[in-house]
Amino acid sequence: MSAARLAPSILSSDFARLGAQVEEVLAAGVDYIHVDVMDGHFVPNITIGPLIVEAVRPLARQYGAVIDVHLMIEKPERFLDDFARAGADILTVHVEACPHLHRTVQAIREVGARPGVTLNPATPLIMLEEILPYVDLVLVMSVNPGFGGQSYIPTSTAKVRRLRAMLDAIHSTAELEVDGGIKPDNAAEIVAAGATVLVAGSAVFGGLSSISDNIAAFKRAL
Ligand code: DX5
Ligand code: ZN
Repeated sequence: MSAARLAPSILSSDFARLGAQVEEVLAAGVDYIHVDVMDGHFVPNITIGPLIVEAVRPLARQYGAVIDVHLMIEKPERFLDDFARAGADILTVHVEACPHLHRTVQAIREVGARPGVTLNPATPLIMLEEILPYVDLVLVMSVNPGFGGQSYIPTSTAKVRRLRAMLDAIHSTAELEVDGGIKPDNAAEIVAAGATVLVAGSAVFGGLSSISDNIAAFKRAL
């Protein structure tokens, strides 16, 4: 349980100070950087693209961290190569955005990244059943995608537990990541349900405490 890792979402960072803030989380011992890509179509918000991935790549490489890119976009296959070239190590796509999900997962491997799949809170886990053997990461959305700073949907923990059972049943070593509304006070429950990577945006970059104090609070909770 204590092997779970924290993946700070730079969506909640201060973009005017992006480099310094990314360095602060990396120096605090974090080994994932979560990048939330939104297109104003799949979700009602527009955020960032490959240029930002490219900008954080040197720091991520320097600290040996994984760049974990969450694509909340329609037709993600159009941009897989761009994100991989920019430095994405993991590319996660939504099942709702990919009618040919198996093909998209193969395409992610072909561009040299590790494939992840994710699903919205109201999408049932059965949608993942056929693709699980082919992926390196499964992401459970515990808020409706589109914005940082929303509240954790409480039924997500049971969903994580059921997904953990599905992964174990096929002896999968895929990471089980959870994203949305994660704070030090619910982190342990989510990890106990079977998560291995916890995304946190506002709880790392927001509030009055420093980034390193926020990360320390997560470490204590786990
Ligand atoms: C939501 C994003 C999340 C979000 C997490 O669409 O995928 O990664 O930034 O932010 P918090 O931790 O503030 O819920
Ligand atoms: Zn995300």
